[in-house]
Amino acid sequence: MTSVAQQIRDIDVRRRIDMLADPGSFLEFGSRARHRVTAFGMDAKRPVGDGVVTGNATIGGRPVGLYAQDSAVLGGSLGEMHAAKIVSVLRQAERARIPVVGLLDSGGARIQEGLAALDGYGAIFRANAQLSGRVPQLSLILGSCAGGAVYSPALTDVVIMLRDGAHMFLTGPQVVKAVTFEDVTPGELGGSEVHTRQSGVVHLVADHPAEAMDLARRVLSYLPDSCWSEVPMAEPAAPGVLPALPDNPRTAYDVRQVIDGIVDGGSFLELQARFARNLVIGFARIEGRAVGVVANQPQALAGALDISASEKGARFVRLCDAFGVPLVTLVDTSGFLPGTKQESNGVIRKGAKLLYAFSEATVPRLTVVLRKAFGGAYIVMNSKSLGADAVFCWPRAQMAVMGVEGAVDIVYRRELGRDPSARQDLMADYEREVMASHLPAERLSADEIIEPWQTRSVLAATLRTLASAVRPRFRHDNLPQ
Ligand code: HXC
Repeated sequence: MTSVAQQIRDIDVRRRIDMLADPGSFLEFGSRARHRVTAFGMDAKRPVGDGVVTGNATIGGRPVGLYAQDSAVLGGSLGEMHAAKIVSVLRQAERARIPVVGLLDSGGARIQEGLAALDGYGAIFRANAQLSGRVPQLSLILGSCAGGAVYSPALTDVVIMLRDGAHMFLTGPQVVKAVTFEDVTPGELGGSEVHTRQSGVVHLVADHPAEAMDLARRVLSYLPDSCWSEVPMAEPAAPGVLPALPDNPRTAYDVRQVIDGIVDGGSFLELQARFARNLVIGFARIEGRAVGVVANQPQALAGALDISASEKGARFVRLCDAFGVPLVTLVDTSGFLPGTKQESNGVIRKGAKLLYAFSEATVPRLTVVLRKAFGGAYIVMNSKSLGADAVFCWPRAQMAVMGVEGAVDIVYRRELGRDPSARQDLMADYEREVMASHLPAERLSADEIIEPWQTRSVLAATLRTLASAVRPRFRHDNLPQ
């Protein structure tokens, strides 16, 4: 075990709660609960509390439901009473309309309790689903978590995991070995590297439990207590410096610098930063008002959308819509990534999730086209026709069915067959007639052409105007994508 992992083990469950909650605010419930199993010699091991500490507390003065599993007690495994305690936290949060934070460290269903343990998980999953979209649910993965201890987090809105010393897998390495004969370490099977880069299960990674708690507090600061309450405001802060885009439209740049140049300084909290890097998502603030940012990232896959980006974006858009957080979309994409792999893996079905999520969203929705918005990706990225409240474009933005080369080769195939030298002229014609930036504004596909330096103030003013937009309070759940 690495020293970081050892340090984490040494932070016991009550200390973890103290690190998260406002000092002295934790009120415990169910501290005397014990299991009643006698099989497997369990009657000799009946620890009070049954391996989980449950109750409520305040975080930044706001009430939350809280549970923390204790891996030092029966491996943090979940039996009937352990589950009943967690369900009780969830039900109280549902009734009080407050967020829930789970500190997870559990080997999953307690094997000795059999079906009672599985039914316990069933009840938790059902409660997670019933709370979804109504109150924010956060999961912190602070140890080796297996089985139900990873499925419950997957049903919640934001998952925060320790970089070292924490794992998430449906079945542990021993079971994998027994079933598939595969020798795999816990880290290879379900370490933070796997879940931040490949599976996308984890939204945020922390080097230490204290950082994980800070991240949880930060996530909560962008979200309301429930879908029925207001999104909290913060003190406005000056933005960073907005970089100029490269002169060459094919040169990549880091869209996160553009985000930093628009939003309140230091307010951007990127989620799933290493998964589907071609789409950047995260919470930020503009003049103190929380927003969800969705931006194409030209630095990865040239900003093209693919299956992973669609699923990542769709769930985030639904999360923001569920909790009344306005959406700001920054567009620079030449389209969906073409190819047999994407098609056979279901880009039609999965890309449709992003299309659906934007189409149904009722929060204020603003779009800025920075450079390119082509084809299906133009529509998907919160276009006017999908219901954006306002679309702005920067002066050199191009919005069209496809880029000039592809378009000319298709439209003028016969002419080019006869005279290939006409290509340059035809491209210039297409750029002038179809891609000029004044065209989208002429036909209201964009509401205004704005200079980059105006972006923040225009977005801030539009958000202020739309703040009173009437929207249904409970919108929908946050179905895992
Ligand atoms: C009962 C368990 C347990 C479990 C761990 N323990 N998991 N007891 N039920 N599920 C006990 C161990 O026996 C041990 O007890 C103590 O907890 C610590 O476990 P270790 O293995 O020593 O710890 P560690 O090396 O850190 O490994 C942690 C682990 C491993 C990777 C989580 O324990 C493991 O692989 N457990 C089984 C995981 C698993 O496959 N669970 C699936 C559950 S099915 P002693 O007495 O020796 O200290 C499930 C269904 C949900 O959850 C359905 C979802 C749809």
